Amino acid sequence: MDVATTAAMLHTLQDPTGIPSHPLIFQVLMVFTWVPHILFVNISLGAALMGLYAFTKRSDPYWHALSEAMTKVAKVGVSLLVVLGVAPLLFTQTIYDPQWYASNLLSASWVIGFIFTLTIGYLAWFAFYLKNHGEHAPGWIFWLGAFGLAMFLLDGFIMHMLTYQGLHPEQWLEWYTPGGHVDMSGAGIHAYELPRFGFFMAMSVTVFGAFMIAYGDYFKVRTDRSPAYLAFARSLGNNIAITGTALQVVFLLWWLMDVPAELHIWAHPMTWLLLVYLGVLFAAVWVARGETEGQGYRLLPMSVGMAALVAIFREVLRMAYMAPFQYNILDYKVNWDVPSFVLFLFTIIGVGGLMGGFIITLVYKAGRVKGAYQADATVAKLGTGSVAATVIWVMTFLSVGIWIWLRNNG
Ligand code: HEM
Repeated sequence: MDVATTAAMLHTLQDPTGIPSHPLIFQVLMVFTWVPHILFVNISLGAALMGLYAFTKRSDPYWHALSEAMTKVAKVGVSLLVVLGVAPLLFTQTIYDPQWYASNLLSASWVIGFIFTLTIGYLAWFAFYLKNHGEHAPGWIFWLGAFGLAMFLLDGFIMHMLTYQGLHPEQWLEWYTPGGHVDMSGAGIHAYELPRFGFFMAMSVTVFGAFMIAYGDYFKVRTDRSPAYLAFARSLGNNIAITGTALQVVFLLWWLMDVPAELHIWAHPMTWLLLVYLGVLFAAVWVARGETEGQGYRLLPMSVGMAALVAIFREVLRMAYMAPFQYNILDYKVNWDVPSFVLFLFTIIGVGGLMGGFIITLVYKAGRVKGAYQADATVAKLGTGSVAATVIWVMTFLSVGIWIWLRNNG
């Protein structure tokens, strides 16, 4: 399809009722809410692979302890990555609705399959987790875990394919009507980009490595974790992070070479910022390899910074792909809905901030104590505050709804 027709198609596919506040707000939220999603994707994939690898060496007490711990990390991590995927999904489908929905329809069977594969993959992982206790855990459960990880990888690939197909609107018609015949099966995988997908897998290696170092630091205060075991975990994590950052640079260069030259992505400052940052991260993990103790709380935030740059880079790239079709989210029709926007902001700050802050603080503090944890005054106050915020939120939500209903029907 030619550029002008594709541009017209994209604009026609946008929601005619517009969006309820400024598009930039949605864009910023989309980019930054994706960061926690991908961080938990990275940690979960890394932990799942480590949980399985360490399981094969479980006759050694350190590997055995690591396998149990990382199996649990992946179990919690997958549940969080799913929950945290919802926010960027809401925002991407608001400002990039033509791209997201067209891509989803073109591969609808895979989108529906995504739900099933994620469910059975998670169930398999959970069964592996339940059985993976003690040095004498039966060997066959390895395959349960391996199946779970394979499903998670497949789901990551489906996510990638959906994103990438959305970047090629000029090919949608061809994919929809191959050889002039309409194909409504939604069974096709029409496009993917190996270096891009590989980059996110390499990123999992880095982030998981940094996570392992932080894991070793975090448990230092626990008497039931031997210092030698924690040093073993940190040093392993450091080697993993070194490998990951090196792989990321290789995959990023390959990815950049794969991006069409006319998008001039090499000329964009974000490209160079990301490359330089990866170089700095590599240097930081390399320097830490002699003495990893106390490095976790430095290297993990540095990985979070890297994820933020990756998130911005992805968006810069999407804007470059869309520019030839005059698709600029700033042109999106806005139909201001102030009450719902204010409610949304208060929900994020009040309920999200307080409740999120409470849960994170609680989990952080409780994990550092062996046995039952007694909440201190700050945590108790945060808990009361978050319950109060939720009650106020429910009352406000219902009042606004009732008020609007009465106004429209009165
Ligand atoms: C094991 C399961 C999952 C894995 C491994 C995974 C992995 C990924 C990866 C690698 C990307 C980047 C793709 C790219 O830019 O090429 C991505 C993007 C994304 N994922 Fe996930 N994901 C998973 C589940 C989910 C779920 C359950 C949701 C929603 C509830 C979700 C929402 C998103 C969104 C919204 C994006 C960005 C799409 C865009 O920019 O248009 N993901 N995911």
